[in-house]
Amino acid sequence: MKIATIVGARPQFIKMAPVSKELRKHFEEVVIHTGQHYDYEMNRIFFEQLGIPEPDYYLGVGSGSHGYQTGEMLKRIEEVLIKEQPDIVLVYGDTNSTLAGALAAVKLHIKVAHVEAGLRSFDKGMPEEVNRVLTDHVSDYLFAPTETAVKNLHNEGIKEGVYLTGDVMYDALLHNIKIARKRSSILSRLGLKPKGYLLATVHRAENTDNMERLKTIIKAFIESDEMIVFPAHPRTRKYLEAYGLIGEVEKAGNVLLIPPVGYLDMLVLEENARKILTDSGGVQKEAYFLKVPCVTLREKTEWVETVEDGWNVLVGADKEKILRVIKEFEPKGDTYMYKFGDGKASRRIAEIIRREMSGGV
Ligand code: UD1
Ligand code: UDP
Repeated sequence: MKIATIVGARPQFIKMAPVSKELRKHFEEVVIHTGQHYDYEMNRIFFEQLGIPEPDYYLGVGSGSHGYQTGEMLKRIEEVLIKEQPDIVLVYGDTNSTLAGALAAVKLHIKVAHVEAGLRSFDKGMPEEVNRVLTDHVSDYLFAPTETAVKNLHNEGIKEGVYLTGDVMYDALLHNIKIARKRSSILSRLGLKPKGYLLATVHRAENTDNMERLKTIIKAFIESDEMIVFPAHPRTRKYLEAYGLIGEVEKAGNVLLIPPVGYLDMLVLEENARKILTDSGGVQKEAYFLKVPCVTLREKTEWVETVEDGWNVLVGADKEKILRVIKEFEPKGDTYMYKFGDGKASRRIAEIIRREMSGGV
């Protein structure tokens, strides 16, 4: 049996690492990389550090508008699927690569499996929400990381093919955190002390493409007077430059703007941060897994468990709120209720696919 795995963006390389390892115990896997992310620090570094199999196809789609990017991916993925004739296509998360992969497969009558199914922010203004909903509705196998995700699917009438597996990002973190502690020298490279800084990431379109919001967030960082390490996504750097904010950051001196870092350095930066400020889905979860208080620079989150447990607080792009939570937010340790599986989600996914594709035996 042949599986085609479709990836293209940074978090998908991390998610596929543990799953691919399990899949290859049972199946032939063909990896199709759309080329959505292409800079070394957004792409190659993850393949090198995580031992992910090299893509069999690199489609080189690159950046562009949603229609251009998704359309080009759809065309190029279809060509590969026709040639390879896989039995099943596996897609991850909620990016344009996810939707293009799912659409290309379903139209060729190839079974679709979605890892991280059922996530909802209930905000259709987010491109990711549109990608998730559409992908779930054409998927045959829906691997839900949490009970909330299962409920979301049930509420939309999707009951067949839904499996509660746990979260593959937790598998990835468990496997890599010890390696990261041994190998990463990021703290000494940047002159940081454990718990002596905050860590920030910002890359959501709603924050970067909106000048007022990005300005407000950066002003809050600067006014906090905390040491803030800020590995900036290329999208964010582009807008910081366009809005003339780079100079302000440099003048302030307390915000350390650096290029995106590899996964091992990122885990070490997260674990040793006093707090994390982010609009990333994956980083919110990793903050929770590592029990680091998280301040989410959005109004809504699909990872509601982290908020319910008191380890994550939603502040949007409100300067006063951001400054207040940077000072005051302290989760109470006893509220932590682990809800993301047992670190064996990847094994479970491979086993379900094996069972289902062999007629249930
Ligand atoms: C995409 C996903 C988002 C995910 C994020 C992970 C969609 C709609 N969005 O957002 O859900 O959270 O990936 O990081 O799929 N760029 C570079 N070099 C790169 C990649 C991007 O310079 O290697 C710049 C380009 O200017 C590009 C911009 O970043 O236009 C945005 O990239 P894109 O892939 O469209 O969306 P992301 O913001 O990365
Ligand atoms: N990440 C990384 N280096 C960085 C920023 C993030 O390795 O400089 C990792 C992070 O640890 C997490 C994943 O990338 O595993 C999250 O991806 P991102 O924030 O790009 O997307 P999202 O999760 O919001 O879709």
